[in-house]
Amino acid sequence: MSDAISKVAIIGLGLIGGSWVKGLRQKYPDWNVVGFDRNVDSMEQAQQLGLIDAYAPTAAQAVLDSDLVILSVPILATREILCEIKPFLKPSALFTDVGSVKGCVVNDIRDVFSQDLPNFVLGHPIAGSEKSGIHAADSELFKGHKIILTPLPETSASAVTLISQFWQDVGAKVELMEVSHHDEVLAATSHLPHLLAYSLVDTLAHNHENKEIFNYAAGGFRDFTRIAASSPKMWHDIFTANKDAVLDALDLFTHDLAQLRKAVAESDSTTMMGVFTRAKVARDHFSKILARRAYVEPMKTQQINYIAQPGGSLSGTFRVPGDKSISHRSIMLGSLANGVTEVTGFLEGEDSLATLQAFRDMGVVIEGPHRGRVTIHGVGLHGLQAPPNTLYLGNSGTSMRLLAGLMAGQSFDVEMTGDESLSKRPMNRVANPLREMGAEIETAAEGRPPMLIKGGSQLSGITYTLPMASAQVKSCLLLAGLYADGKTVVTEPAPTRDHTERMLKGFGYDVQVDGDTVTIESGGELTATSIDVPSDISSATFFMVAASIAPGSDITLEHVGINPTRIGIINILRLMGANLELLNEREVGGEPVADIRVRYAKLKGINIPEDQVPLAIDEFPAIFIAASCAEGQTVLTGAEELRVKESDRIQAMVDGLQILGVDIRGTEDGAIIQGFGEAGAFGGGEIITHHDHRIAMSFAVASLRASADIKILDCANVATSFPGFIELSQNSGMNITVE
Ligand code: S3P
Repeated sequence: MSDAISKVAIIGLGLIGGSWVKGLRQKYPDWNVVGFDRNVDSMEQAQQLGLIDAYAPTAAQAVLDSDLVILSVPILATREILCEIKPFLKPSALFTDVGSVKGCVVNDIRDVFSQDLPNFVLGHPIAGSEKSGIHAADSELFKGHKIILTPLPETSASAVTLISQFWQDVGAKVELMEVSHHDEVLAATSHLPHLLAYSLVDTLAHNHENKEIFNYAAGGFRDFTRIAASSPKMWHDIFTANKDAVLDALDLFTHDLAQLRKAVAESDSTTMMGVFTRAKVARDHFSKILARRAYVEPMKTQQINYIAQPGGSLSGTFRVPGDKSISHRSIMLGSLANGVTEVTGFLEGEDSLATLQAFRDMGVVIEGPHRGRVTIHGVGLHGLQAPPNTLYLGNSGTSMRLLAGLMAGQSFDVEMTGDESLSKRPMNRVANPLREMGAEIETAAEGRPPMLIKGGSQLSGITYTLPMASAQVKSCLLLAGLYADGKTVVTEPAPTRDHTERMLKGFGYDVQVDGDTVTIESGGELTATSIDVPSDISSATFFMVAASIAPGSDITLEHVGINPTRIGIINILRLMGANLELLNEREVGGEPVADIRVRYAKLKGINIPEDQVPLAIDEFPAIFIAASCAEGQTVLTGAEELRVKESDRIQAMVDGLQILGVDIRGTEDGAIIQGFGEAGAFGGGEIITHHDHRIAMSFAVASLRASADIKILDCANVATSFPGFIELSQNSGMNITVE
């Protein structure tokens, strides 16, 4: 289609139009490009630089016979130029512009032409530089940048396609937007920052007391004000042309700035820290977007595979990251407490960070995390605010299920979504009992996320027997119980992790535990406290299994949480003959902790006692690796819950282990594994993890006893629970690299 173009006119020879034409000339060397600018010097320079073949004495003469006309003049000059060129414009000519405001250009076009213009495609490239003028033209200026096209109702699709093509030719990414939406968005993201930069520099430059400012101005001044060196005429026109939207953005900013001023004046640290921490998170997120590393849906955008080479043994003393379950709960209860809660050892994994972000979105000021330290400025049980958007909880089932209970007690509506894996996980196990308590909850088909929880329902306590052993469901109902009339009584079929109960007590809230039944009543308050999060026994598991199966290994894992509801892995490995020693047992903030020494041992197959299943619920992928290395048969039963974790963990492990040559058969609620014993080994192969962190780490550990490389696909989600896994496994003696 671009063959239809042979003569091109560019009106206005500045940085933006000049850069576009410079790039286009490289792609279309046969075009005859004629330029016009009010400034003869610019026209001469453009010709010398080879950007134009010739220049015309008037805009009208430039457009004569042109197939494509590019307008690149200050916005307020548009109308005059349009009037001038109107009689000379070929009816078939394509017309486009590059202005930063679109509404006023559309008005000018409508007034001047008073007819439908299917060949007019207005555009705005989101790129630039504080430099101006044709000499600064740069054919690479638009590479990787967005160009917003704002077609009118009558604009023809073929015209949009052609202009899009010309932008793609110079490396830009085309997006379409409605005219008024464009002007509002750009007022906030571009026009307002320019206005502030000009104003700040002007204020400082004219203040006598500050006359030395430029001598001592460092990075902060430079970074904040770089754009104040932009073209004054261009920006004068932009503010004039987009007056209403700019004033709206400025009013909002002025209001917030006045609040910040007040906070500074009153030394109101919470408000100040709120503004600064929220801004920092938002800016860090933006930096990741710029570096194309956005957190949002990282599993799709980041393709990380592990290559695990065979052999090795483990040694050393080290600490794995903080407990995921306790980290989630520390944010939740800290946010709902009165006062400031200090957390140390917080897990900086994506799952617990999703919880942290959710509470920030609901108005809680949270400082950190910085090296595991988090400071939470609690807002009290009734102090949460409606989040501005849907809460995105990534891969984290714990976040969604526990939050469901809390959200059911709020006065505002909340929608919660997650990634592909979380979107497949069952939520009726929490939604149904919450509905019995009076909550109004909508889910997608079969109780899958997203979950919409309506605010303003008064909950009533219920007496509920859990149909499955699930700490998440138990915790969800206890948290809803904080807001329910009367007593909420939950009975579990088998003991599950009790971190919620322990931590509620730590925050001074009365919780009655009587055998398998927990009772909570509303009306109390949570009082801020300090929380020292122990290392996660579920993360330590990979190293316990690794040291147990790799001959010559001897490691010590420090400060591991050994809550009795979590020690299934220790009990099961010991039954298999593992050499585990608990050292330095102590209690830290209501949770028992120990250092665990693990040495290689000859393992044997066992029938895993069913009462250990809920106590080791997250550990089975790693236990399957241990069982494969054991002498004889291991049988797992009563573990159907594994089928609804981040993946169907029974199937994922059976498939992967069969690829590595293990004799394993899956059953509905477990598996039967014939271990290859001390003399045997895993084969090599390629493992599908279904983006499940624990499947990925388990097969990494298997490599210690493999005879060939194991390639493990899609391991990005290891970051949900175990940031630094690769470094720690390499330092301790495993041979794993990232592809
Ligand atoms: C968790 C409970 C368990 C566990 C999950 C964390 C918790 O889930 O698998 O990793 O923090 O309460 P279920 O309650 O679904 O068994």
